[in-house]
Amino acid sequence: MSWFSKFLTSSIGQKIVMALTGIFLTLFLAIHLLGNLQLLQNDDGEAFNTYAYFMTSNPLIKTVSYLLYASILVHAVQGILLARQNRAARGANRYAVSHMRSSERASRNMAWLGIIIFVFIVLHMYQFWFQMHWGGLEMITYPGSTHPVKDLYTLVEESYESPLFVVFYVLSMIVVGYHLWHGFWSSFQTLGLNHKKYTPLIKWIGAAYSILIPLLFAIIPLVMHFRG
Ligand code: HEM
Repeated sequence: MSWFSKFLTSSIGQKIVMALTGIFLTLFLAIHLLGNLQLLQNDDGEAFNTYAYFMTSNPLIKTVSYLLYASILVHAVQGILLARQNRAARGANRYAVSHMRSSERASRNMAWLGIIIFVFIVLHMYQFWFQMHWGGLEMITYPGSTHPVKDLYTLVEESYESPLFVVFYVLSMIVVGYHLWHGFWSSFQTLGLNHKKYTPLIKWIGAAYSILIPLLFAIIPLVMHFRG
C-alpha cells in the first residue's frame, strides 16, 4: 500500500478528506445561492436562464461541476464510514453509549443530518439539474441575444407553486443549517486551525454563515410561491 492510500484510509486521513470536501461544498453553496437569487428578479427569468446557460456551457465550470459531484459522493460515503467506525468503537465498550461524549453525539447527529441532505440533493438534482440537462425544456431567445437558452426558470416557478415542495425546501434548509453549523467548526478543528485569538471569530463566522445561507435559500421558494 502506498503512503498516500495508507494516509487516505487512516483515521486522520479520512477526517481530512471530510474537512476538505466539506469546505469545498460549503463554498459551492454560496456560489449556488448567488446564482439562484436571480430567480427573484422580476424579468420573467431572463437573468436566471442566461446564468444557467452560462453555468452549463462554460468548459471550466463544467470541469468544476465534476469535482463537485465527486466531492458530494466522497463526503457522503466517507461520513457514513466514519460514523460506523465510531459506533463500532463505542460497541467495544458497553458503558460507552450511556457515557457518550458530546463530540460523539454530534458526529452521530451529523451522519443522520448528512443522510437527509443527501436524499434532498438526489431529489433536488432530479427535479432541476436532470431536467436542465436531459429534460425537454422550452427554448427562449431573449432580445439582444444571438442564441436560444433553456427555460429552466419556468420549471422552478411551476415547482414552487406546490406548497408541498416549498415546505420540503424550507425544512431541508433547516437541516442544511444544522449540518453546516457543526461541520464548519469541525473542519477547522480537523485541519488544526486552532488559534487563541482567531478561533472565536471563526466560530462566529461559521454560525453566521450557517444561518444566513440556508435562510436566503429558504426565502427563494417562499417568495416564488407567494408572489404567484
Ligand atoms: C431554494 C433553494 C435552491 C434552489 C432554488 C436551487 C436550484 C437549483 C437549480 C435550478 C439547479 C439546476 C442548475 C443547472 O443544472 O444549471 C440546481 C442544481 C444543483 N443544486 Fe440546487 N438549489 C437550491 C438549493 C440547493 C442546496 C441547499 C443544495 C445542497 C445542499 C443544492 C445542491 C445542488 C447541486 C449539487 C446541483 C447540481 C449542480 C450543478 O451541476 O451545477 N441546491 N439547483
